[in-house]
Amino acid sequence: MPKYTVTPWEVSGEIDYDKLIKEFGVKSLDDKLLKKMEKQTGELHYFLKRKIFFAHTYFDTVLEQSQKGNKFYLYTGRAPSGPVHLGHLIPWIFCKWLQDKFGATLLFQIPDEEKFLFNENLTLDDTRRWAYENILDIIAVGFDPKKTSIFLDTEYANVMYKHACRVAKKITLSTAKSTFGFTDSNNLGEIFYTSMQSVPAFLPSIMEGKPTYCLIPCAIDQQPHFFMTNDVAPKLGYPKTATILCRFLPGLQGMHREGKMSSSIDKTTIFATDKPEQVNEKINKYAFSGGKETVEQHRKEGGNPDIDVSYQYLTYFLEDSKRLKQVYDDYKSGRMLTGELKKITIEVISSFLKEHQMRREKARNSIDRFMLRG
Ligand code: TRP
Repeated sequence: MPKYTVTPWEVSGEIDYDKLIKEFGVKSLDDKLLKKMEKQTGELHYFLKRKIFFAHTYFDTVLEQSQKGNKFYLYTGRAPSGPVHLGHLIPWIFCKWLQDKFGATLLFQIPDEEKFLFNENLTLDDTRRWAYENILDIIAVGFDPKKTSIFLDTEYANVMYKHACRVAKKITLSTAKSTFGFTDSNNLGEIFYTSMQSVPAFLPSIMEGKPTYCLIPCAIDQQPHFFMTNDVAPKLGYPKTATILCRFLPGLQGMHREGKMSSSIDKTTIFATDKPEQVNEKINKYAFSGGKETVEQHRKEGGNPDIDVSYQYLTYFLEDSKRLKQVYDDYKSGRMLTGELKKITIEVISSFLKEHQMRREKARNSIDRFMLRG
């Protein structure tokens, strides 16, 4: 049995996503729900068609409400402990698409205290510095400044803190322990932190002065926080929070060898600020290949795109589904060699990053248009 772990603090092993849906008690994003969504959005993002976003909680309720003309907010976040990599960008890209399609306001939380509390080596100055670096990548995704508010927890605390206290009062230590696996050696800040992550889910109702729905696009490891949020929501008179959940982008060595892409492993991670030469070197050197030992064998027996990491990356970054299928078929039949597949992936990712980096530079001038500072 392959073993895996998925918690907000650790993701490892080869994840069985069907099993995870059951274990977490979330729902799969089925075709019926996607059809309902398509009625409102006119089309489906390829992340949905390819099941990169694959699960949800209460998304059906949010859709029904929006069908009736009741608006909802979007909320997502990023804990700043280092540079942004390709995996971080996936939920944000999807978030932007949702913002465009539904005209929704987005609250973007940067819990700079989270990484300070959970990481021995980072000071609050470090996490603040990373926060402002990461904000450039967030803005570069293309959010509408009129409909997007970004905030650092330490800067927006005068608004958030009292609501965090209202949340914290409704959560016992024993619930926190069973949800997150805390032990007696966790510090008090770590235990309190989940209250701060719940607050932005209630801010839509607080800001609008009436019950207002909130949809959170994020990777599935964050779901335990939002179970907590929904425990508390009815007790404070707020509607349940909805989530729409994605899979993890693997590191270059693949899910089975190193798990999700991680900022702490430089070599096998593609950062949002990597130059084409770095993308080229990393993919050529480290991307786990589904190819055969020799060219002859590969031509004869074909490769295995399903375990090939370069191919996996194309499913995330190559929007053209026809071309993607062609690559799949060619690689599987042996017509395409690993070097050729890697070349395509390098091109696709480099050109994506080139655009991203241009927008990232421009973002330096517009930070203040996005920030909420209480
Ligand atoms: N805890 C998240 C992280 O470690 C950051 C975060 C805060 C977040 N609020 C969120 C992520 C809401 C997704 C949705 O990166």
